[in-house]
Amino acid sequence: MRLLDGPDRPAPLPNVGSGFIDALERAGLAGRGGAGFPTAVKWRAVAQRSRGDAVIVVNGAEGEPQSKKDRVLMSARPHLILDGAFIAARVLRARRIVLYIGERHEAALASMLRALSQRSEPEPALVTVAATPARYVAGAEAAAVHFINEGLATPTNLPPYPFERGVDGAPTLVQNVETLAHAALLARHGQAPGTVLVTLAGGVVRPGVIEVDSETTIGEALSRAGGMAESPKAVLLGGYFGSWVEPERALQLAIDHESMRRHGLGLGCGVIGVLPASRCPVCETAGIMRYLAGESSAQCGPCFFGLRALADACTRIADGRANPDDLTRLQRWTADVRGRGACRHPDGAVIFLSSALNLFASEFAQHQAHDLRRTA
Ligand SMILES: Cc1cc2nc3c(=O)[nH]c(=O)nc-3n(C[C@H](O)[C@H](O)[C@H](O)COP(=O)(O)O)c2cc1C
Ligand code: SF4
Repeated sequence: MRLLDGPDRPAPLPNVGSGFIDALERAGLAGRGGAGFPTAVKWRAVAQRSRGDAVIVVNGAEGEPQSKKDRVLMSARPHLILDGAFIAARVLRARRIVLYIGERHEAALASMLRALSQRSEPEPALVTVAATPARYVAGAEAAAVHFINEGLATPTNLPPYPFERGVDGAPTLVQNVETLAHAALLARHGQAPGTVLVTLAGGVVRPGVIEVDSETTIGEALSRAGGMAESPKAVLLGGYFGSWVEPERALQLAIDHESMRRHGLGLGCGVIGVLPASRCPVCETAGIMRYLAGESSAQCGPCFFGLRALADACTRIADGRANPDDLTRLQRWTADVRGRGACRHPDGAVIFLSSALNLFASEFAQHQAHDLRRTA
């Protein structure tokens, strides 16, 4: 039983009720959109508030530049995702489902619409589709609710959280497409597949999406993709909100949210990005910081101005034209930005930057000293 291998066709929905939330809890299913939050806790919070008016938002925004697993899944198993959404609608007594899909993921969007048109049995909730702007923060759950309600894909202040007051003011479950597919298999077979979808990116012989058992190590996953194209400098774990990890350590890690957490790391949205030794880690970090600064929704000062200042200092250091105190400032400003936004965007950016400052301390110091010779 796997997410990507099974046949994808409409099938009668399994007969599940509110007891299914206990099954989600026993299976230990955690969200696959980035935060790894326990799925049962979210379903219970919505179930407790639903008066038959709940809303399910199927999150297929996939704004993370290196991630491809959600669109691969939407293209390959649209019925499985729809099953997950309809099961959630039954269990949470929802009246509306919104398929929230990145507008640039055209094949995935078409696949989901085709699958929807193939469903003939009466579904428990009305389904609508929202094509989402291709912005990084558009996938955040509060941005999804804001877009569906008012046409703006920017996060809003929390609380109220979507499970309290979301789409149309009703209790709303925002759930990643992969999480819903796992829930559907659990409902069908009485057990979850225990697998993870990961996107292998960067210096990999065959980059792309693979499904692995949760005991699989990163080294084993990379071998399945033909190995690394050249010797690695570092591995970026969890996408642009993730952390740089030294290759020797990364290759031994099991691809599992829980065990990553025990190592003080996160699998995030499942991206494993390999940085080849021939690439400059400081320049790479500066490029990602510029991207993240440009993706701020410009609503909170510390995020909008803070990330810009961090990205500018990082870029000066990378280019060998650092001001004398740029590196010290980077360290100080990361602490100033953390926890100061309405959403986790600035926190994610500084987790990423802090990991770079730790792992590439000597490269940053060398660049700060305007010495751009390679240290790899
Ligand atoms: C800036 C930002 C961007 C996000 N982008 C996505 C996204 O593209 N897709 C996604 O499923 N979750 C994304 N998330 C996480 C969502 O807020 C939310 O936690 C998730 O959709 C919940 O589903 P899950 O519990 O199944 O992971 C993002 C969060 C933040 C802060
Ligand atoms: S923290 Fe940043 S991305 Fe999030 S709402 Fe505020 S300005 Fe927008």
